[in-house]
Amino acid sequence: MSNHTSSLEASHFPVMLNEVLQIIAPIIGGKYIDCTFGGGGYSKEILNIPQTKVIAIDRDKKIKLFATKLEKKFPQRFKFFEIKFSQLETISTENVDAIIFDLGLSSIQLDDLTRGFSFRSDRKLDMTMGLNQISALEVVNNLNEKDLKLIIKYLGDEKEASKIAKNIVKQRKKKKITKTTDLVKIIERSKRLNFSKKINPSTKTFQALRIFVNKEITELILGIISATKKLKPGGKILVVSFHSIEDRIIKYFFNNYSKNKSRSSRYLPEDENNENALFEEYRNRIFKPSKQEIDKNKRSRSAKLRFAVRSSNEFYYPQKLIDKFKNYLNLEGINV
Ligand SMILES: C[S@@+](CC[C@H](N)C(=O)[O-])C[C@H]1O[C@@H](n2cnc3c(N)ncnc32)[C@H](O)[C@@H]1O
Repeated sequence: MSNHTSSLEASHFPVMLNEVLQIIAPIIGGKYIDCTFGGGGYSKEILNIPQTKVIAIDRDKKIKLFATKLEKKFPQRFKFFEIKFSQLETISTENVDAIIFDLGLSSIQLDDLTRGFSFRSDRKLDMTMGLNQISALEVVNNLNEKDLKLIIKYLGDEKEASKIAKNIVKQRKKKKITKTTDLVKIIERSKRLNFSKKINPSTKTFQALRIFVNKEITELILGIISATKKLKPGGKILVVSFHSIEDRIIKYFFNNYSKNKSRSSRYLPEDENNENALFEEYRNRIFKPSKQEIDKNKRSRSAKLRFAVRSSNEFYYPQKLIDKFKNYLNLEGINV
């Protein structure tokens, strides 16, 4: 491995590592899946416990370098797959003790300016994490104005979505939009009268495009469903999320598929999902990074960690989760 890649790996702080380890409490010989390997922060700590087995996945091929190093160190205990959450089913391991998702981008990806995730870079608009069908460049240059607006509005929660979409279409008629800075200029012009001092004007549009390009909502929903299927009774699913759409999905899933699912009226009979719930009682507890962690790693400030414990009931497909977030799934399904 080059010095460059090792220093990238070292520069990445795993978010809420202590809290994650406390919740999963790895046991000797336990089986774990790390769905977002990144710099491998969680995987490495779990492997410190004797005889544990860890399967890690990540969609980013650049991450493979770090994973290969760990595979060499633990040939019998660690295995990496370059796949997406939606392909988790292809891994045959079952009866897992804990499965972890640490969503979003790693600092390794964000700090690599060539990937076009950051609006501070002057590079090609790309934003692909890996195993993608489209890049941000194709989205901003090919998608019609109406769909662009919907994506920016609903995936970025951007109030000025109409204006931004209109100006993107106007600008690309004159000249193809190729660089992150081209897009930043369009956004800044569109939001001139409505600048917020707190967040950069480009933040929300960039978030929306990144989510769309990587189909992050679809991936999350399919991922947590497959993960639930792979857990043993008493096994834990942990998710660290970074924005409100993700957190709503996780909260809904854990709440509505747990034994104490909140009912609209206490006089109504428990429905059958309640009795056969996929999860044990869910306490709706959210873990957040400590002040010390935020001081050390600013990017952790919006992180929220939730976890649920698998019940011993048989797995069934949580169709209500799909139905509830259908609008987001349809939005990400738009063809470019
Ligand atoms: C925040 S980082 C994880 C950091 C990791 N916990 C660590 O300690 O270094 C998220 C990682 O998940 C990967 N990822 C995001 N969405 C994914 C998906 N749908 N399928 C597979 N990997 C994904 C990203 O490529 C990135 O490397």
